[in-house]
Amino acid sequence: MSKETGSNQKEIREISGFSIEVLIDEVKIRERLVIIADQIYEDYYKKGKNPIFICVLRGAEPTYIWLTQELGRENPKTDRKPVSAHGGHIGLSSYGKSKNSSGRVKLTSRLSVDIEGEDVIIVEDILDSGNTMTKARKKYFFPKKPKSLEIFALLDKVDGRVFPIEAKYVGFKIPNKFVVGFGLDLNETELRNLPWVGVPLLEP
Ligand code: IMP
Ligand code: MG
Repeated sequence: MSKETGSNQKEIREISGFSIEVLIDEVKIRERLVIIADQIYEDYYKKGKNPIFICVLRGAEPTYIWLTQELGRENPKTDRKPVSAHGGHIGLSSYGKSKNSSGRVKLTSRLSVDIEGEDVIIVEDILDSGNTMTKARKKYFFPKKPKSLEIFALLDKVDGRVFPIEAKYVGFKIPNKFVVGFGLDLNETELRNLPWVGVPLLEP
């Protein structure tokens, strides 16, 4: 359940002294989230399941909001009805101020809801080595005994995988490059707010 990115035309945007190559624009993200919402509706709500979406702070914030809002809309094309999507959050950090995973996963905020016996969908910005999700599942999710546990990752760097973990729902498969925007940051602060995903080429 994913989509390849890729186009031959390069678009570079200049923002606050950064040069960033556009990888996935806003419209594509929106379209893809509509499809993911349709799939989740089929897999859960149509079967009478009411999953709890767990937003992994802070990178997944925009993805979580766009997805859960989309589930609050109807899609007349697919006969999807609006639902009240339940949610919570957990804070995890593995990059810190670096462009590479530290290998350690720091809990920055505890799981905000009780997931025992619940169908859970973790909403994550990106799967790279798989370190964060592998360790988080083992340490913070499985011990809480959810009925089921799946992952939705907006982005998937398939070639970066070190741990054998897959997301049930993937927005876009992307090349093994450092990306920013749509929640993903550089140095914990920069460029998180871009409403699209890009590859930083030049920094100020
Ligand atoms: P993993 O633990 O190697 O799978 O990496 C996943 C975590 O690292 C994600 O939750 C992100 O927060 C962060 N991350 C991975 N790749 C990138 C990137 O290209 N840009 C910004 N953050 C990233
Ligand atoms: Mg993250």
